[in-house]
Amino acid sequence: MNSALREAIRSTAGHPGPIGVFDSGYGGLTILREIRRALPDADYIYLGDNARAPYGSRSFELVYKFTLEAVEYLFSQGCQLVILACNTASAKALRTIQQNDLPMLDPGRRVLGVIRPTAENVGKLSRNGHVGLFGTPGTVASGSYDLELAKLQPHLRLSSHACPMWVPLVENLEAEGEGADYFVRKDIDALFAADKEIDTVILGCTHYPLLLRKIRQYLPEGTAIVNQGEIVAESLLDYLRRHPGMDCRITRGGTVRYLTTEEPAKFSSLAAVFMGENAESRRITLPNLL
Ligand code: DGL
Repeated sequence: MNSALREAIRSTAGHPGPIGVFDSGYGGLTILREIRRALPDADYIYLGDNARAPYGSRSFELVYKFTLEAVEYLFSQGCQLVILACNTASAKALRTIQQNDLPMLDPGRRVLGVIRPTAENVGKLSRNGHVGLFGTPGTVASGSYDLELAKLQPHLRLSSHACPMWVPLVENLEAEGEGADYFVRKDIDALFAADKEIDTVILGCTHYPLLLRKIRQYLPEGTAIVNQGEIVAESLLDYLRRHPGMDCRITRGGTVRYLTTEEPAKFSSLAAVFMGENAESRRITLPNLL
């Protein structure tokens, strides 16, 4: 970390700031949208590392390194609370950041992920206990959902399937194209071949709700879909109720700043469609950006 960033983190310690929301690209907008619905008066900074997305097939070391850079950047912008609105980053980087980096960066700040709240809530939807997970190769290989469910909901039987093509389809604005039909159907068939009794699926990647229309079309009728955005928003509200010290360190101006590591024009136009409002973005650079 360079000294300017370190100084910015030091000088904003303890001061109220926006909530930081981070994803490898556009996917975290599905979380931001729900969080804003639940907490409309808070200020937000959304950071999409579009230049290095997708993260899903990257090594543990790289996902950790890139995620830490993003968290440090958001801290330097005054965020006291950062949500990793990315399953891959939550699976591969969250624990290390919470346990090793946060105590050194600023023990007063918090970084929260999306996997635990999802695992806590999935049992409410399933009637027969057979749950399916779609995720990036990284999230599925990490076994994070298996571990959390074994701890929190041991009665559930989880079958997982990695969908390496789903994020590139979204990032390349092909979610409505014919290629998406092919891959969505193929991956759904593969998951249900592993367990025909699945009655509930977790879209374990924040990009996947952008493929929701096609996912619904090919899922067996009656399959429940976990809405990760709503769950994360609900769990954030609950967290802030239980931690009033953090609640009062969030500024309340109702603003959102969009930051991307790639082309801002492309980001702004997609984010505007998705958020249903003007979403002017700015390009930033992170230390190991190639
Ligand atoms: N949207 C992210 C997730 O929830 C990451 C997707 C990717 O970059 O591969 O996993």
